[in-house]
Amino acid sequence: MSAIRKDAEGCLFMPVTKAVLPVAGFGSRMLPASKSIPKEMLPIVDRPAIEYVVKEAVRAGIKEIILVTHSSKSAIENYFDSQFELEHQLEAKGKDKLLAEVRAILPSDVNVIAVRQHQALGLGHAVACAAPVVGREPFAVLLPDVLVDCDGGAEDLRAMVDRFDESAAAQIMVEEIPRERVDQYGIVALEGEAPACGESAPVTGIVEKPPISEAPSRLSVVGRYVLPAEIMTILKETPPGAGGEIQLTDAIDTLLQRATVEAYTMQGKTFDCGSKAGYLQAIFHYAAKHPELGEQARAMMSEAAK
Ligand code: G1P
Repeated sequence: MSAIRKDAEGCLFMPVTKAVLPVAGFGSRMLPASKSIPKEMLPIVDRPAIEYVVKEAVRAGIKEIILVTHSSKSAIENYFDSQFELEHQLEAKGKDKLLAEVRAILPSDVNVIAVRQHQALGLGHAVACAAPVVGREPFAVLLPDVLVDCDGGAEDLRAMVDRFDESAAAQIMVEEIPRERVDQYGIVALEGEAPACGESAPVTGIVEKPPISEAPSRLSVVGRYVLPAEIMTILKETPPGAGGEIQLTDAIDTLLQRATVEAYTMQGKTFDCGSKAGYLQAIFHYAAKHPELGEQARAMMSEAAK
């Protein structure tokens, strides 16, 4: 158990047990597939993309999943709720394996809470909508478009939570990307070299979608953060930034003037399921390693590639 520390606002550094998942976005990059179902519910092999993200949070020790959502996306909350009629039917028909799978979607000690984002004012605004539920505790943020697969190795988000618990320094997951793509992401500035995979180092700045010629590095923000409660206060005062939206990146840039913020270099692989190509790549990846379908899937993929 780490020693009791407080941040600049006197908030205790408690263990990180809450995660905010902003899921209110319409997913226009996935249209028409996302026209009448949430993009987060599109399946990656045999389960919706959002389940991979929730399971990643659970493996990092998260006990409260806070969905920041929209009225059109109640399918997400329903997926994590129990479905009595379905379970009863599977039980009556002796479909025990399926029943166990349905029940294993969410461990019984993990809660899913939904809050609404009433206006689409940006990622920073979405995270701030969770403030009443987060309270004065540190929390993780997981952007559900991005899937992170650590392939049975050390879990990146878990490592970030551990690092926060030890040092109280905010953690931002980063990966190196080609220079021509830096204008599509949050980009961090560091004093020295990029930290080695699985390591963290203090950042000196962070900027949202900089022009390629002005990017301070090629280290992009992947969509996983561990942040102190103080960021909620900062978000309330953060004006619209890139794209006219309230940016989480801008609030983190303010935070780092008063507290340590570190970039954590990820070890796993990422898939951007908010884009059609990234979504397809995730399907191929997870199909090829699926415990039951993997062999068949690999044969199908090489057949299709002929
Ligand atoms: C968001 C963040 C950006 C981050 C990206 C990761 O951007 O604002 O900093 O790099 O997610 O996917 P968005 O993709 O929502 O425009």
